[in-house]
Parts: sequence; structure tokens; C-alpha cells
Amino acid sequence: GLPARVRIHEVGARDGLQNEKTTVPTVVKAEFIRRLAGTGLTTIEATSFVHPKWVPQLADAEELYPAVADLPVSLPVLVPNARGLDRALTLGARRVAVFASATESFAKANLNRTVDEALAMFEPVVSRAKAQEVHVRGYLSMCFGDPWEGAVPLPQVVKVCRALLDMGCDELSLGDTIGVATPGHVTALLTALTEAGVPVNALGVHFHDTYGQALSNTLAALQQGVTTVDASAGGLGGCPYAKSATGNLATEDLVWMLRGLGIDTGVDLGRLVATSVWMAAHLGRPSPSRTVRALSHQ
Ligand code: HMG
Ligand code: MG
Repeated sequence: GLPARVRIHEVGARDGLQNEKTTVPTVVKAEFIRRLAGTGLTTIEATSFVHPKWVPQLADAEELYPAVADLPVSLPVLVPNARGLDRALTLGARRVAVFASATESFAKANLNRTVDEALAMFEPVVSRAKAQEVHVRGYLSMCFGDPWEGAVPLPQVVKVCRALLDMGCDELSLGDTIGVATPGHVTALLTALTEAGVPVNALGVHFHDTYGQALSNTLAALQQGVTTVDASAGGLGGCPYAKSATGNLATEDLVWMLRGLGIDTGVDLGRLVATSVWMAAHLGRPSPSRTVRALSHQ
């Protein structure tokens, strides 16, 4: 069966804006997050405390986070290492995310580390966050396919998931970073994880929509018991360190499907579309979301 309710983890302000060629002014980002919060979204990933040379688009994290910290929503932030955690905790962040890779190629490209070195980098970050009762999400990229290595074997993904849970992550997000997954692959991975003892309520899914499969993949995940779904308003997004990664599943497309299925998200679709149209005007290009296009005059 399908769940009665789905929690949307909105990633537009982080995953979306990190991949824009132009750097969006901090005040526009803050207004974007404020408008997203006004749609009923409850988890809005705000930014990343990564090295500013690696992701210049998010170099204003110190200015942005305090500008939105008053909002009555969860505002998770990405932290790759101790330095990132320090920066986030100083500003009062209560939810952080580390981001691992299932493949060696992407671990190197994204974190300048091997898979094991990256996990070793995260371990003290997670334990320090947990000691302060900060919620920790563990992202796992390249769960389905990798631009350099091709298809990714299921046991390789299961192994890194286990490592992230064992170090204390509260939840995991399974990333299809380059959007190559198809529903049968999603079912196979979730089945393998369940058989390895990973509780399905600790899992979220994070689909990029490169091949237009993100919604079908989401439905497959819901059928396996997943209730946390990552999406980005207007379908913004990609990853600067993974060639061929396009935007995430658009939040509007997700809400449209879930609404049709009678699954509650608490999101006002009209307000969300208006927010994405407003953001698209700032970015100077229309939203790629089919639902945004259908419900607006952009
Ligand atoms: P590195 O070059 O190996 O860093 O990068 P290092 O540890 O050797 O440190 C070098 C210098 O950077 C030092 O400064 C550090 O202080 C500084 P120096 O002493 O030379 O003056 N430094 C920092 N400064 C500010 N904030 C920090 C920080 N850390 C070190 N946090 C590093 C390693 C992890 C830092 C780098 O690779 C990095 O920042 N990577 C981030 C890449 C990224 O953000 N990618 C996008 C997010 S992941 C994603 O999008 C996928 C996802 O959506 C899921 C999916 O779709 O699959 C989540
Ligand atoms: Mg992503």
C-alpha cells in the first residue's frame, strides 16, 4: 500500500542554487526560503557550510542562515567536516547533513577523499552533532549509477548505508545524483537494504530528473514504505561535481502526484508554483517543471 502522509525535504535553496551559474544574491535566497516556508513545507534545506572555493554559489552561508533562522521550519544544512560543523553550530543550526558517496570516483570528485577517508572524516562530525542532540541526515550519492563507473552494484550501496547508520546518522537519503535510476532498480535497492536490516523509516529518496524517471522512481519507493521524499521547488538543481546531473524532482510535480493519490503533504500547490515562478524570474529562465508550466503563464 501507499503511505497516508509524505514528508517533503525541500532542497531547492541548496541543491538547486548550488548549481546555478550566476550566484543568487543573499536577500533573494532568504526571500525564497521565506516563501517556501509559507507554502507549508516543513523541512527546507537552507545552504552548505562547505569550502567556498568548491561551491561559490553558497559562500554566503554565514549571512544567509541567520536571515532565515527565525522561520518555524526545520532548516538542515550540509557540513562535510569538522570545520563545516563548527560554522553551522556557531549559528545555531539544529539539523545537519553529511554527504557520502557509494562510488570512489564521486568521493574523489566531490570530497577529495576515498569513500573510506570520507566516512572517517564524517565520523567525528556525526558523533559531535549527536552529543549536542543535533539531528543528522546522511546523504549517499551515486546509489544507482555513476558517470565514471556506470551501474553501481547494490552491495556497494548497502555497505556505505550501514556505515552511515552505524556512525549515528538519524536518517539516510538515497541519491540518484545523475538521474539514471528506473523503478525496478529502486525496488531492488530498497529490498536489498531492508534485507540487510536497514529500517525503511530511516530512508529518504533523492531523485534527479535527468531521464524523466524521478516521479516513477518515487512511486516505487512509496510502495516499499518510504515516506520521506527530497524535491526541489521548480525543479532547480544539479551537482557541480557530477557531469550530467540535472535538476531534482520538482516539488510541484511531486505534490501534484501525491495530491492525486490522496497523500497528504501539507503543501499549498498554488503558493509553491507562485514561488517557483518568482524564483525563475530572478534566474532569468523558466522552471523546467511540467506542473509549474501547466499551472502558470510563464
Ligand atoms: P579539501 O581541499 O580536501 O580540504 O576539500 P582540506 O580538508 O584539505 O582543507 C583545505 C582548506 O579548506 C583549509 O584551509 C580548510 O580550513 C578549508 P587552509 O588551512 O588551507 O587555509 N576548509 C574549509 N573552509 C570552510 N568550510 C569548510 C572547510 N573545510 C575545509 N567546511 C572539502 C575537502 C570537503 C572541504 C571539499 O571537498 C568540499 O568543500 N566539498 C564540498 C562539495 C559539495 O558541496 N558538493 C555538493 C554537495 S553534494 C551533492 O550535491 C549531492 C546530494 O545532493 C545528493 C545527490 O544528489 O546524490 C547531497
Ligand atoms: Mg542532489
